[in-house]
Amino acid sequence: MRLIDGNAIAQQVLNEVKARVSQLAPTVPQVAFVRIGEDPASVSYVTKKQKTAAEVGIQATLKVFPETVTQAELYAHLDALNADKNVHGILIQAPLPKHLSETDVFNRVHPSKDVDGFSTQSIGRLIQEIPGAFAACTPAGVIELLRRSGVATAGKHAVVVGRSLIVGKPAAALLLAKGCDCTVTVAHSRTQNLAALVRQADIIVAAIGKPHFIKADMVKDGAVVIDVGINRIPDATKKTGYRIVGDVDFEAVAPKCEAITPVPGGVGPMTVAMLMKNTLEACERAQPRA
Ligand code: GUN
Repeated sequence: MRLIDGNAIAQQVLNEVKARVSQLAPTVPQVAFVRIGEDPASVSYVTKKQKTAAEVGIQATLKVFPETVTQAELYAHLDALNADKNVHGILIQAPLPKHLSETDVFNRVHPSKDVDGFSTQSIGRLIQEIPGAFAACTPAGVIELLRRSGVATAGKHAVVVGRSLIVGKPAAALLLAKGCDCTVTVAHSRTQNLAALVRQADIIVAAIGKPHFIKADMVKDGAVVIDVGINRIPDATKKTGYRIVGDVDFEAVAPKCEAITPVPGGVGPMTVAMLMKNTLEACERAQPRA
């Protein structure tokens, strides 16, 4: 069993991003974060993204709205960011409050600045395999982990467990696309015989958002397992009162795997690294050609 070290691979990506950022001087890539409300997980993710941006020389701004923000107020802010030539990437941290339509809000971001990859344009471009389409950061991180850890993907059966807009659907599209060339099955909460299906997988991408959902008897010997889950479970031994576990029962599953990502330290750091890469590329594309 090989442990896929997401921290180390994310650091490689960030080092490359930092080198390319410095080549853009005096232009400084800029990403604008928008957070709505005070959901503790969202606060922590955005803080992490801001810190990482600073480390690679990307400027980051943050606008926080209360839960009660109206669509008009939010759109006015997004329109100003769209029009600001110094802003190259825009990220609205999900989940959004129920009274806002996520798809409408994501679609308000100009396609050239959609570093999160959640707009209709970005998803269409991803499916069309248009080079340079912005792919959502978490699934893009999954692919980068597979590539950089030397996992062969062509012709392999990848089973994605979860069908979210943020992970499952774009992960399936990326695994299917030329370059990865997987045979892809997407399983979800309504899938029948899920265990038997997942047992057929050469590559499992677990993104269902349920702690320890993937058990040892659902994994064939020699599979590669990528665990996208970030679940908080109560743990009285921790100061915070909780600990983070993935969607995979790591202790039981790991011995069966050819390779597996841990949680934390697997996909999580890659999401942030890919956001930096997308922001850099948005900025590079915005430069006048010499
Ligand atoms: N919430 C959970 N993951 C993500 C992500 O990658 N981007 C945004 N905007 N929100 C998220």
